[in-house]
Parts: sequence; structure tokens; C-alpha cells
Amino acid sequence: MQEEIFENLINGLMDEQFGTVPNFITPELAAALRAQLLEYYESGKMFPAGVGQHTNYTRTEKVRGDVIKWLEKENSPAEKAFMKHIEAFIEYLNRSCYTGINAYEFHFARYEEGSFYKRHRDQFQTDQGRKFSLVTYLNEDWTSEDEGQLIIYRDDREIAILPESGRATFFRSDEIDHEVRPTRRARLSIAGWLKRV
Ligand code: OGA
Ligand code: MN
Repeated sequence: MQEEIFENLINGLMDEQFGTVPNFITPELAAALRAQLLEYYESGKMFPAGVGQHTNYTRTEKVRGDVIKWLEKENSPAEKAFMKHIEAFIEYLNRSCYTGINAYEFHFARYEEGSFYKRHRDQFQTDQGRKFSLVTYLNEDWTSEDEGQLIIYRDDREIAILPESGRATFFRSDEIDHEVRPTRRARLSIAGWLKRV
């Protein structure tokens, strides 16, 4: 079951340049992570994210409007369970595709109503460590009227993905342009990267 989900993500990436599955995490884990994110938000532990790295780093709401907090296994059982799941996925990916992933980083993200993340790629120009992007959503009862779609830009077309709870989307960090459309409702996710360092 778990391997079938991993397989679907990987097949999507190979055949279509991105994979997306509705059930990457269980409803129970999604609920626990959502509660954890909300607790961090309400206790003032989430901060505006930046763009770029080191000397290129800037903080600008014109490019992205989310607040984030990096996940750490030690911080909560929900974070630990999520990281364990990610490790199982990395193990499967390395075994089936010889990708040599040996590190990862994930952050919670919250986009307030009206915020967005303009078209971009995830790999830094100065650091090629990020190989794959994996975004998991935590939003119950999301509809197309709530907007906040992830747009994947491919040579031939644009694909819009709704940030529904439990869904994850997977793509190469160096080659896929993507954006987050302005959201009409607080939008919760975990965005992260599988790395080779
Ligand atoms: C990112 C990102 C996409 C999403 O955090 O870099 O592109 O759907 N997120 O939240
Ligand atoms: Mn991105």
C-alpha cells in the first residue's frame, strides 16, 4: 500500500515530470500535523520566509507571502512520524532509482488569505543540493473556490493542483517552474526537499 503510493509519485515524475497522489499521508497524520502547525502559528513561532540563500537572501512579500517553521523530529510526535515517512520514501526512491539522496529538509508553511508564491524554481543557483521537491497539504475540505492552487509549468501546459489534505506533489527542484496562486483561505502545507550533499 505504502509502496504503491511511493511508486505512483515516482512514476508520475518519470512519465509527466511531476507526480501527485491524494493519500501520501493518512488522515490521522494530516490532522496531527495540522494541529501542530496551528499551535506553532498561534504561539508566534512561524516567521516570513526568505528567497535565495546567503548573500542573495531577501525577504519580500512581493515574491512570497507565507510564514514558515522548519520541522524537527524532536519537537513533536507528529513531526517525528512525518520524517519517518519521508525516510521510508527516500529509501524506496534510492532503491528503485539510484538517486543517492542523503539529506532532507522540510518546513511547515501557512499562506494567509491573499498571499501567494510567484513563479520560481527551488534549486539555488549557488547550491545544487536540492534534487527533488515534495509538498504535502494539510487543508480539509478545500474546493476550487478557495484557489491557492499549485501551478506546475511544463513545456506544453500548466497543471493546477488543489492543496487538499493528504495530497503530495513531487518534482525535480532544478527543472520545474511552479507557483502558488493567491489563496482565498488560510492555506497549510509542508514543503520540503530531498538533497544530495
Ligand atoms: C515552495 C513552494 C508550493 C506549494 O515552498 O517552494 O513552491 O504548493 N510551495 O505550497
Ligand atoms: Mn517552490
